[in-house]
Amino acid sequence: MPETASTAGPIASPEADITAALGTRSVVLVGMMGAGKSTIGRRLSARLRLPFLDADTEIEAAAGMSIPDIFETHGEPHFRDGEARVIARLLDAGPTVLATGGGAFMRDDTRARIHDKAVSIWLKADAEIIMKRVKRRADRPLLKTADPAATIERLIEQREPVYRSADITIWSRDVPHEKIVDECVDALHARLCGSVTTEASNTLSATP
Ligand code: S3P
Repeated sequence: MPETASTAGPIASPEADITAALGTRSVVLVGMMGAGKSTIGRRLSARLRLPFLDADTEIEAAAGMSIPDIFETHGEPHFRDGEARVIARLLDAGPTVLATGGGAFMRDDTRARIHDKAVSIWLKADAEIIMKRVKRRADRPLLKTADPAATIERLIEQREPVYRSADITIWSRDVPHEKIVDECVDALHARLCGSVTTEASNTLSATP
């Protein structure tokens, strides 16, 4: 008697549904410095079993120098051009989870590319949390000002209307990282697969 072929496919999970729906598109994290794009991005990539890429790290590798050195030696416009080129290249290597630098999404051409080739998640954080987190590192050239807290307030004001155009918004706050990752997975599943998966999705309504 011929063996009956199994009709069971790969085990279904929200993560598998998301990667199937993404195809070659990436998940791109945008938002202010200190919002947790790299920390959450790395964990989200592990959950989705996709490679993780950090645009800042890739820019440093391509330039052969650190971001503070690029700013100091060549200036911000040169950094922004390099950043746009690197992100365009990384978006062609999808699917990945890609963390972008805080200013990248402000550029029209980069935003349009992200829209075409990725699903974007804005990790929204308030000024107080950002300040607390960025104080731990002194490698952000834009914060080398007399009053970094005021600089952060000004950048938030300028950037939030643009970040708001991301596909998904997740409120990044001081809770365990896995909780934020759960919310990203839920929101991706709802957007790409048209359904809500776990109770964590309820917290999305708490997004300010
Ligand atoms: C910048 C954020 C930084 C880095 C550069 C400029 C910005 O990345 O790209 O210092 O314009 O907000 P993070 O957001 O990863 O800190």
